[in-house]
Amino acid sequence: MQIIDIAIAPMGVEHLEDAVRLSRQSGWPHRPEDWRLALALSDGFVAITASGKVAGTILLTSYGRDCATINMVIVDESMRGRGLGRRLMEAAMALAGDRPLRLVATADGLPLYERLGFRETGTIVQHQGIAVAIAAPQNIQVANAADLSSILDLDRQAYGADRTSLIRKLADVGQYAVIRRDSQISAFAAVRSFGRGDVIGPVVAANLDDAKSLVSHFISSRTGAFLRVDTGIETGLAPWLTDLGLAPVGGGIAMARPAIILPATPAVTTFALANQALG
Ligand SMILES: CC(C)(COP(=O)(O)OP(=O)(O)OC[C@H]1O[C@@H](n2cnc3c(N)ncnc32)[C@H](O)[C@@H]1OP(=O)(O)O)[C@@H](O)C(=O)NCCC(=O)NCCS
Repeated sequence: MQIIDIAIAPMGVEHLEDAVRLSRQSGWPHRPEDWRLALALSDGFVAITASGKVAGTILLTSYGRDCATINMVIVDESMRGRGLGRRLMEAAMALAGDRPLRLVATADGLPLYERLGFRETGTIVQHQGIAVAIAAPQNIQVANAADLSSILDLDRQAYGADRTSLIRKLADVGQYAVIRRDSQISAFAAVRSFGRGDVIGPVVAANLDDAKSLVSHFISSRTGAFLRVDTGIETGLAPWLTDLGLAPVGGGIAMARPAIILPATPAVTTFALANQALG
């Protein structure tokens, strides 16, 4: 098939079945509901053949005007190496306009993103496994609706952008836990169903001990369940996750365009991502 016969078109719910097929082909765990959530937060494009077959996908998830992530970049195995990945990226980047962009690159995607001006900002490790029985930490509380504005504020400080859409969506589909000090929320974490089980993240805290307590809270209530945590290598959470039986199984290179300059000593840090796609 000539690449010229393939159009780049807006992605809609009618493309989700094909999208799930493509992510499974890449060995990714996304269920239809994971794609639906991602699309609800995003603008998407598909590469589509004249006969209506979806040959590729991409999502642009915007966090207000502050920034956007590019994710779910997939080209059907049989159509790779013919410029479709680049065309999908160009469509998403044109829509993003002057918004700073972030993504987490697989080894497959890295050369494409480098050519398009993305630069490495960190390493993300994906940990997963079966939750072992551990004691529940005593300093964690389940969040209530009134906590959402503090959670949004902490996430904005840690991520460097306003992710109201994502943070509210995670409250709808999952749960938040918080640490309160002097009646203020000083740290939070979310959990939701994703892929083969549950994903814990984002986890935002001022220090590693608080991040561990939040993750422990969710592990302790899910003994025997399949759990996933995506964490930046620099946070120090990875060795502890491994010790708990959540083994490193992969990950990616965090990239940005232009390169992000975050405060050298942020008050709070993102210890775990919502997942690699959403940041
Ligand atoms: C990443 C992916 C989407 C790329 O799609 P594609 O259609 O094969 O990409 P393209 O043909 O547009 O190639 C894009 C550019 O990268 C270059 N490139 C691709 N693979 C390369 C490699 N292994 N080494 C060096 N350059 C490479 C191409 O030469 C091209 O550069 P050019 O446009 O300047 O000529 C595809 O490999 C894929 O779906 N992989 C599995 C899912 C995945 O990992 N997605 C990335 C998520 S972050």
